[in-house]
Amino acid sequence: MSEDQDWNKKSVRILTKKDGNTKCADCGEPDPQWASSTLGVFLCVTCCGIHRNLSDISKVKSLSMAKWEEDQIEFLQKHGNDAAKAKYEAYVPVYFYRPTHLDCQVLREQWIRAKYERKEFMKKESSDGLIKGVKEGTLLKRGRDNGQYFARRFVLTLLDGTLKYFIKADAKEPKAVIKIDSINATFQPEKMKQNHGLQITYIKDNRTRNMFVYHNNGQEIVSWFNAIRAAQFHYMKVAFPIAPDEEILTRLPQNFIKEGYMEKTGPKPTDAFKKRWFTLDQRRLMYFKDPLDAFAKGEVFLGSSENGYQVKPETISCTQGNLWSYGISISTPDRTYLFTCESETDRDNWLSAFKKVTSLPMNIREYYAVQSRLKHHT
Ligand SMILES: *[C@@H]1O[C@H](CO)[C@@H](O)[C@H](O)[C@H]1NC(C)=O
Ligand SMILES: *[C@@H]1O[C@H](CO)[C@@H](O)[C@H](O)[C@H]1NC(C)=O
Ligand SMILES: *[C@@H]1O[C@H](CO)[C@@H](O)[C@H](O)[C@H]1NC(C)=O
Ligand SMILES: [Zn+2]
Repeated sequence: MSEDQDWNKKSVRILTKKDGNTKCADCGEPDPQWASSTLGVFLCVTCCGIHRNLSDISKVKSLSMAKWEEDQIEFLQKHGNDAAKAKYEAYVPVYFYRPTHLDCQVLREQWIRAKYERKEFMKKESSDGLIKGVKEGTLLKRGRDNGQYFARRFVLTLLDGTLKYFIKADAKEPKAVIKIDSINATFQPEKMKQNHGLQITYIKDNRTRNMFVYHNNGQEIVSWFNAIRAAQFHYMKVAFPIAPDEEILTRLPQNFIKEGYMEKTGPKPTDAFKKRWFTLDQRRLMYFKDPLDAFAKGEVFLGSSENGYQVKPETISCTQGNLWSYGISISTPDRTYLFTCESETDRDNWLSAFKKVTSLPMNIREYYAVQSRLKHHT
């Protein structure tokens, strides 16, 4: 290696220590090992892979393996992640979902394309996907009972705060009218075995209902996802006019804390364990027979440890139909629940997820919901 090249590599290294450059420009993953010599940003390996597909705009190179010319280094020095952010993320709407390194491919790819290819956030006009407060289109929706996907027309309306869907394109009556403030939307490529798969969870007749949709076009499904967030944000701004934006953002859909299989037993000591799919959100542990079931078989409210909710590991012998013995008990004021996990690692992951929930104090709303439920029980 020439001395020049050696020196150039050192200069690149120094640049990665600069504020903003210590994390991937697009997903925030620490310690990026790649950079775009045309956009002047430092990137993680996954985002770099996405940039490769935008070869007209972005030329990516490894920081340690590739050859860096002096003018390219100067370019990186003059630009960098902070400058790129100021330029390409100047007008990202407050409700817009910014993916992290934990998010799925379609969210990351569309975020990167929106930034550099479509330059959506360099203009002041809002990019919420709603035209005069409405978004309409066709999504493929999984049938509740047969697991097949069918084209359905969806209409999101800001004015009445609803998401509706119609069986036939020309139908007058919607099959369902969903209140926008009861919706949670999360991407579920693995569970749905569909790269653009979106799970929409809402409340129907006091029960949590899951609906699974996708669109073949990645830009379109991400646009639906952000349009739902936009509609929810605007709806809540009207409902809670004095609440600060940050407060409202915490009410927008959040990713589930953890999902996966465990075994669970019933309330009687003789009840057998059954394998179930579990979904943990901010306060609830829901369980399903199949990961893509429309309705949960049941749910457990998880309050805080200071209000008597305790989570701890247990050793459970395989005598009640259970295949797994890495147990967990959750004690609530109503009942103690027993679960088993497939491995010790999996149990550790569930325990830390549960403790994340129980270590948070309950807010007033959650506290009164529990109190009134307990009163009904006695
Ligand atoms: C790049 O594009 C190809 C062809 O569309 C696609 O199959 C591949 O998944 C893309 N790679 C990334 C990392 O986005
Ligand atoms: C949506 O998520 C929030 C926070 O996790 C939760 O409180 C709410 O019950 C969820 N709503 C539905 C319909 O699942
Ligand atoms: C839902 O719950 C509320 C309050 O508990 C009750 O008044 C209402 O009748 C229930 N609705 C349905 C459809 O079960
Ligand atoms: Zn990244």
